[in-house]
Amino acid sequence: MKLLAIETSCDDTAIAILDCSRGRVRVLAEMTASQIPIHRRYGGVVPEVAARAHAQTIVPLITEVFESIGLKFSSTGKKPPIDAIAVTCGPGLVTSLWVGVTTAKTLAWQWGVPLYGVNHMVGHIFSSLVERSLPKFPALALIVSGGHTELVWMKNERSWKKIGSTRDDAAGEAFDKFAKLLGLPYPGGPEISRFALKGNAQAIEFPRPMIREESFDFSFAGLKTSGRMWIERQQKITPNMRADACASYQQAIVDVLISKTKRAAEKLHPKTIILGGGVAANDALRDALKKQFGSAPGIELIIPEKRFTTDNAAMIGAAAFFTGTKFKTSWRSLVANPAFEIQ
Ligand code: KG4
Ligand code: ZN
Repeated sequence: MKLLAIETSCDDTAIAILDCSRGRVRVLAEMTASQIPIHRRYGGVVPEVAARAHAQTIVPLITEVFESIGLKFSSTGKKPPIDAIAVTCGPGLVTSLWVGVTTAKTLAWQWGVPLYGVNHMVGHIFSSLVERSLPKFPALALIVSGGHTELVWMKNERSWKKIGSTRDDAAGEAFDKFAKLLGLPYPGGPEISRFALKGNAQAIEFPRPMIREESFDFSFAGLKTSGRMWIERQQKITPNMRADACASYQQAIVDVLISKTKRAAEKLHPKTIILGGGVAANDALRDALKKQFGSAPGIELIIPEKRFTTDNAAMIGAAAFFTGTKFKTSWRSLVANPAFEIQ
């Protein structure tokens, strides 16, 4: 089965054509048009601007992806060999979501193929399962992105339950806001992790919110405030101080993520631990997870390739394929759902 996957939930227009057969998803072609240079001048994503950029980009990008593997995509030509379409329908920025959703609905109607409306966060869970077979279940997924921080318990690939989430800001947001206050460009996560390499993670005692609480929920608002107050207290921030601040702040986030995941794993005994989301690109988090679970008996740790950590279309196609009919919908009924929760 050949699947066209579309992702436009935030500021990346992402398209992939996947071959889904024999329990595996293979990427035949994939392209992402990033809007980072556009939003950088505003210090963050501007929804209206993002939607306009998606609208301008999406059809030319789909055309390019088809042509890159010798397929034709034209308004007058015959239907290309695509058997199904998967699109992100939420959560995300509603105006951005509608661009992908409308494009997918139109193509599904025109080609008469099945349509899947995929949850973006579930997509992040499946990002590490592109080009590999399903892992053993039950699995515990830690999903850390710009808008969400979630622990998801997966009975199998089609049945899951959110067991923890952030009560205020997401981890990615905490990275982005601290970077902005330090005068670093958007998106802040990669900038903080780059400066952190030269810093001392023990230099500044930032709080680890909710780290001792029994619940699997997170909170990063207090850390964000503490980061802002540290900046306000300094008369001048030298490059060394900035590196120490980035390393210490990053360590506080990583400590909380690892401690909650460890507590959930000790209580629930998963056979697999899956990492996903944009913050999964963070080397300190990847290393800490490997240290904690890499050689834990009876547990397989699955960390996505870096190219599948930030928003991409392959993960949306993989989620549609692996979850069977879970996200199956129709061009008549699919709508963008900006608050689409992992149930
Ligand atoms: O999953 P994603 O691409 O978009 C959302 O669904 O939100 O995640 C974007 C987030 C941003 O907050 C960005 O700063 C963060 O992922 N991020 C990182 C790194 N790379 C991206 N955070 C920490 N370290 C990184 N290396
Ligand atoms: Zn995302």
